[in-house]
Amino acid sequence: MLRTRLCDLLDITVPIVVAPFGPWDETRLAVAACRAGALGSLGTALRGPAELRAQWERVREQTDRPFAVNHTGRPFDPEAFAATLDFAPAPISFHMGIPADLVARAHDAGIRWIQSVGDVPAAEAALAAGADVLVAQGTEAGGNAGWVSSLVLVPAVVDVAGTVPVVAAGGIADGRGLAAALVLGAQGVSLGTRFLATPEMAVDQEWKDRVVAAAATDAVKVPHAERVMPPFTLPQVGQPYAPRALRTELVSRLERAPETVDPARVGHEVRARVLAGGGHDLLPFAGQSVQLVHDVVPAGELISRLVAEAEALRAAQQAVVPAAGSRGRRYSVPGDLE
Ligand SMILES: Cc1cc2nc3c(=O)[nH]c(=O)nc-3n(C[C@H](O)[C@H](O)[C@H](O)COP(=O)(O)O)c2cc1C
Repeated sequence: MLRTRLCDLLDITVPIVVAPFGPWDETRLAVAACRAGALGSLGTALRGPAELRAQWERVREQTDRPFAVNHTGRPFDPEAFAATLDFAPAPISFHMGIPADLVARAHDAGIRWIQSVGDVPAAEAALAAGADVLVAQGTEAGGNAGWVSSLVLVPAVVDVAGTVPVVAAGGIADGRGLAAALVLGAQGVSLGTRFLATPEMAVDQEWKDRVVAAAATDAVKVPHAERVMPPFTLPQVGQPYAPRALRTELVSRLERAPETVDPARVGHEVRARVLAGGGHDLLPFAGQSVQLVHDVVPAGELISRLVAEAEALRAAQQAVVPAAGSRGRRYSVPGDLE
């Protein structure tokens, strides 16, 4: 079994998190993820507490497994957060800001805290704030992310995390990525881009098709995103995050002539289209792992495939772990896999 400490902590059976997707409705995907033993997630961006609560209840009616409710600091919505504390999901996941006061409120309500970090200072701040799990999110990731690659970030965060489990995110799309993350010392993985290409994810088929067809170089960091995206409303640690998305006419204009993008008009248009389930023609968030996505596959099947591939690679992983007494540091992975 591919079981790690993360599974025990979050009460899941496979060490996989299906990432939150901001304002896009992922209730069907979260249910499928939970049923397959992974941690499903629900984003909260741009939607009010009543609509969010209806989503959470829809998921809770269909599965008794835990799922995460996600919040971010771009922008932070205090009302939606208060509603989340009241609903009390097993964990809250948080991105773009490391608010120790909110961590304490979640803990007071018996809720675990999963904190995304993009560099080592952010990891240290998250540990000081009392995070229960760190998501080391590399720059390869779709959506908002920092600037350090997963291959550097994951072991660096593992090195400072002590007993706090680390989840690797960014650039992982198959069992090789899962196996590699475990070898780097992570206790699990969080996948976003790969799960966009599932029938359960409620985004336009055109977006899924683009994810399947795209090359890594098609998923670019979007400069001047502040012209069309909500502001950061919590203090940020380190270099400001920027979103990664597939190229569109809007992305090209933000690259070449940002002054021609009117924040009031285009920002409003992006929000309206996203809330209607679209926005893929403007800002189709996706990460470099599009290169590794070759099919649209049901989430449960995908999770089984990831686990089977990673299990098959375990022998090879163990072969690359330095033996006791070899030069340099002795790594403790993947020893705690059962
Ligand atoms: C469409 C999309 C929307 C996202 N929205 C959020 C979000 O609201 N909150 C969050 O914490 N992460 C968000 N992310 C980032 C994911 O949580 C995750 O870290 C990332 O997708 C992992 O990298 P990958 O895309 O290479 O798998 C989003 C990612 C995508 C692709």
